[in-house]
Amino acid sequence: MATSWHRRHVLSLADFTAEEFNTVLQSANSFREVLTRRTKKVPTLQARVVANLFFESSTRTRNSFELAAKRLSADILNFSPGTSALSKGETILDTAKTFWAMGADFMVVRHRESGVPQAIAAEMDQLGGQVGILNAGDGCHEHPSQGLLDLFTLCTLLDPERPRLELLAGKKIAIVGDLLHSRVARSNLWSFKAAGADVHLAGPPTLLPQEFQQYGAQLHWQLEPALDQADFVMTLRLQKERMSQHLIPSLREYHQQFGLTTERLKGCQPHVKVLHPGPVNRGVEISSELMDDPRLSLISQQVTNGVAVRMALLYLMSGGGKG
Ligand code: CP
Repeated sequence: MATSWHRRHVLSLADFTAEEFNTVLQSANSFREVLTRRTKKVPTLQARVVANLFFESSTRTRNSFELAAKRLSADILNFSPGTSALSKGETILDTAKTFWAMGADFMVVRHRESGVPQAIAAEMDQLGGQVGILNAGDGCHEHPSQGLLDLFTLCTLLDPERPRLELLAGKKIAIVGDLLHSRVARSNLWSFKAAGADVHLAGPPTLLPQEFQQYGAQLHWQLEPALDQADFVMTLRLQKERMSQHLIPSLREYHQQFGLTTERLKGCQPHVKVLHPGPVNRGVEISSELMDDPRLSLISQQVTNGVAVRMALLYLMSGGGKG
């Protein structure tokens, strides 16, 4: 597949062009086919090294990147902060330089503070510009690979043969919950708006500040108007670990006002589907019944699609398919 990909790092979706979104969707769809084969492995990244630098905990993203790298035949270096030299005082940049010195070609970086992947990318560029950095979630800033896998999940649902950005034009997408702390929502906003979707955000005022109007989305401090005739609804995890003050009265009250249930979806389009990036607080932002309903919930597909999307990113960043 010939592409015009020029991006060394994937740190944010804010400046992605429609062509870049479509290149990722097209490439991920090819890898989705690879993953249905008996032998789910290709030699694309043979002898290349992918370092997983997760300074913050993760189940989905870390294992998905690891599996994606393995399916591309790369060598993987995994790093756990608790058992690393960070505990002896080594800095994050010196940790990254250590992996660079070992020959890492890609670094997949997650950190609880915004800006760490960008700082590592700048350091790597100074060292010669051969290493590609993937932001695997930085603070409340962005989570680009999650944004892309969510986009891929919706587009493949609408056209499994030819997923493309334009399929979401005019679709009403509601994003509900803890917008304030959500790096996933910020990445989703860039891709959904690039697609021309009609994006509605809902949450309590403490978790949905006015600044979100800058993304061109409609803001609601009640759930029902956001859900009205929605084609897709994404609910977000209530990030209790990032809340330094009491931003909601109680989990019970939050669920009553903003928790998604099958009953509450009745105002949506009949074909509505529900997404959640995970991990989920069952019974808080979404009911267990809805989460586990395969007719309505795309949560497992999101996880499955993450591997193909991350294979696509590694492939494109490696220079694969350049025309
Ligand atoms: N969606 C997501 O980022 O999940 P993890 O924290 O498990 O990686």
